[in-house]
Amino acid sequence: MTNQELPNNFLWGGAVAAHQVEGAYEEVGKGLSVADVMTSAGNRSERTITTGIDPSYFYPNHEAVDFYHHYPEDVKLFAEMGFKCFRTSIAWSRIFPQGDEEEPNEDGLKFYDRLFAECLKYNIEPVVTLSHFEMPYHLVTEYGGFRNRKVITFFTRFAETVFKRYRNQVKYWLTFNEINNQVNYDREFTLFTNSGIKIHNGENPEAVMYQAGHYETVASALAVQIAHQINPDFQVGAMIAMTPVYPASNKPQDILKAQRAMQTRYWLSDVQVLGSYPQWLVNYQKAKKFNLDITEEDLAILKKGTVDYLGLSYYMSFTTAASDKEDEFYSYNEATDLVKNNYVPKSDWGWQIDPEGLRYSLNWLNDRYHVPLFIVENGIGAIDHLTKDHQVHDQYRIDYLRSHIKQMKLSILKDGIPVMGYTPWSAIDIVSASTGQLSKRYGFIYVDRNDDGSGSLQRFKKDSFAWYQRVIESNGADLNYEGD
Ligand code: BG6
Repeated sequence: MTNQELPNNFLWGGAVAAHQVEGAYEEVGKGLSVADVMTSAGNRSERTITTGIDPSYFYPNHEAVDFYHHYPEDVKLFAEMGFKCFRTSIAWSRIFPQGDEEEPNEDGLKFYDRLFAECLKYNIEPVVTLSHFEMPYHLVTEYGGFRNRKVITFFTRFAETVFKRYRNQVKYWLTFNEINNQVNYDREFTLFTNSGIKIHNGENPEAVMYQAGHYETVASALAVQIAHQINPDFQVGAMIAMTPVYPASNKPQDILKAQRAMQTRYWLSDVQVLGSYPQWLVNYQKAKKFNLDITEEDLAILKKGTVDYLGLSYYMSFTTAASDKEDEFYSYNEATDLVKNNYVPKSDWGWQIDPEGLRYSLNWLNDRYHVPLFIVENGIGAIDHLTKDHQVHDQYRIDYLRSHIKQMKLSILKDGIPVMGYTPWSAIDIVSASTGQLSKRYGFIYVDRNDDGSGSLQRFKKDSFAWYQRVIESNGADLNYEGD
């Protein structure tokens, strides 16, 4: 590699999650997952989480884009784009339908045998997330999700099962997707999708978040150790939503507030990568009297189970400002403490578009953690229009990805940051996680399916398909391809 080129083994690819593409939500023994009880919402509204399935609602993940049946056609298209890797997740409830069984569902395992074989046929390396917002729903109703220590065992049983089964097919693993989303504990969506938790009356959601996050870091650390015993070549990563929080001004109080915001957003990766709790957080949890179940044995597990690399999604940046009522900790609550950044534009869904923030983030993470970084999500949700002759002119997506890849390249080539790969969100159109919409499209491949579930499910290449194909073919050197 010269200082102008990316490494030859750079992992270009694309990403999805099982529940957002597969559909087939009850096929061959799959159990309900948390994604299966979430309805569709509008542009800026949250999805409703129902108690079980209520037939008066539409649940977009039940069929999604039917990747379960279309995967040979879709993987072929990924290969045509030149993917070196494909990030997806294993739907936990396809393998353990209820989550607490002793034995896995063989038919569920067989699906991933076929999917990974299909990828490897084209030399596409699977990158697999164990838990991507799709915990078995039974673990929510019977155990209260990850607020219950028992769920650690159910998770590690699932992890061990798939590590053993796919030991020769999958090398790159991620434990919990965007584990730090739930730091925004006042948002029902985050605690439910990360941890299968609904807050009960009288509960302190912040304390519940710290407890669930603790159990998940223990589960993650155990999974790392199990993985390395099964196959020492496995690379197991943590996965965070990397959204840097800037200070709104150079006022010292704003700087302190932003620093605490960053410490709060990234406490989970501190534990997963560094193997121990930051002291400020130990003091904070004590001062707030959260009364957490954190044992000496847990702390020893965390030390032994640090991850091999850090996966991150990057979509946007945040900005915060101190108020005149700060406590001595400058406690950060993401639901109330963000302010507008006048220097960056926003997407149609109000997400701040900030490519330089990606370079800032990669530098920040590298300074803090000193482990390889893998950008496993980056992209823009937008309304696409399918023309009569089945084209999608998604120049806005090309512009977004190009500007972010440029910053990634600067980080690697100028700043010397070890970035393993880049898998934009998303390889193909998906059901949006936060809104349940199909119309919030991310893919290089358009799927003819609408928010109400209508549509032929036919696949069409967008303009970004050929553009990204050229990016991969040139190993990131040509970002300006405009078509033949
Ligand atoms: C991340 C998730 O939060 O961002 C994905 O890991 C999600 O599952 C993606 O789809 C984009 O968010 P959204 O809410 O627009 O789908």
